[in-house]
Amino acid sequence: MTDNLFQTYVLNETLSLKNRIIMAPLTRCMADDELVPTQDMADYYGRRGGAGLIISEAVIIRPDGQGYPNTPGLFTPAQIDGWRMVTDAVHQNGGKIFAQLWHTGRVAHPHFYQAITGNRDVIAPSEVGADGTVPRMRELIYQIPKAVSIEEIAQLVSDYSQAAANAIDAGFDGVEIHGANGYLIDQFLHHDSNHRSDEYGQTPENMSRFALEVVDAIIARIGNERTALRVSPGAYFNMTGDSRDRTVFDYLVPELEKRDLAFLHIGIFDDSMEFDYLGGRASSYVRSIYNKTLVGVGSFTAEAGSKAIADDKFDLLAIGRPFIANPDYVERVRDGKELVEYSTEMLTSLV
Ligand code: FNR
Repeated sequence: MTDNLFQTYVLNETLSLKNRIIMAPLTRCMADDELVPTQDMADYYGRRGGAGLIISEAVIIRPDGQGYPNTPGLFTPAQIDGWRMVTDAVHQNGGKIFAQLWHTGRVAHPHFYQAITGNRDVIAPSEVGADGTVPRMRELIYQIPKAVSIEEIAQLVSDYSQAAANAIDAGFDGVEIHGANGYLIDQFLHHDSNHRSDEYGQTPENMSRFALEVVDAIIARIGNERTALRVSPGAYFNMTGDSRDRTVFDYLVPELEKRDLAFLHIGIFDDSMEFDYLGGRASSYVRSIYNKTLVGVGSFTAEAGSKAIADDKFDLLAIGRPFIANPDYVERVRDGKELVEYSTEMLTSLV
């Protein structure tokens, strides 16, 4: 019933996957206090080497990108060494792994980096704050961000590409740029958070500029075949949707197709969510304007994901929470064994 999930899949001339199941990026907040990956993290990822591809938990590209405790980084030599331990463990178990590159933008909090950067600035496209507090840290209220200058944007693009180069140095097979879920890149792509009047705001082309600059800088550094992107055309997290957002993605997605990325990945928790301004599901919308490899995700069982692939809704299936509950998810599905049900208590340890 799920046979198509176990077919090999050729991403491009550089990378081919042993099956169509991807482990979705899952933040675990388990790095040490220098944001260095630990041996426990290496073991955790190593146990999941059965996936066709693992996408790491989101990894911050620099200190002021941090919005949650103990999220790993990729900007110090110790962090690169820590990740090498992780990528070695995955490769030893026959797997492949991409690093997800992250800057949280307006939902960053200086609590995490003030001591390192010496300032309390939170940066974003515009001075529009997010409501609420850092998850599970209710004393940390989101600040009104500072709108980044043109020079600061150029520095961010450079820092993303350096983090991508560091990822390759650490042994990753490629990177997925985190352009989804209401974080920095996504904040440029939605009208809720982008009120700029310069060449990074107002028109679809301008609002897409930062995302494409990051993509192009990373491609120049590590190659298109090792570069992927996750996007959320439907705003659902840290963000309010706006009917004008569609025009941004109508421009961006075909531009991405021209870049011949390793894949494009939808950022969502439940694929069945529908968005008026997209005319339905985010995955269906992207599929209708993008002809290359698309990764679907969001509350799928293996059976439903397999059917979606058979129905040509997308090409690869990313699985998140069930992979936390079942390190051997792929083997269990293949062998028809029962799955352990996910629960949030599982987030307190790395099994
Ligand atoms: C996530 N998700 C997520 N997404 C992302 O792009 N980067 C990340 O670091 C995280 N972190 C994260 C942590 C936890 C605990 C959860 C539950 C989710 C979203 C994730 O990749 C995926 O899109 C959703 O979990 C939906 O897929 P499942 O879980 O229904 O298969």
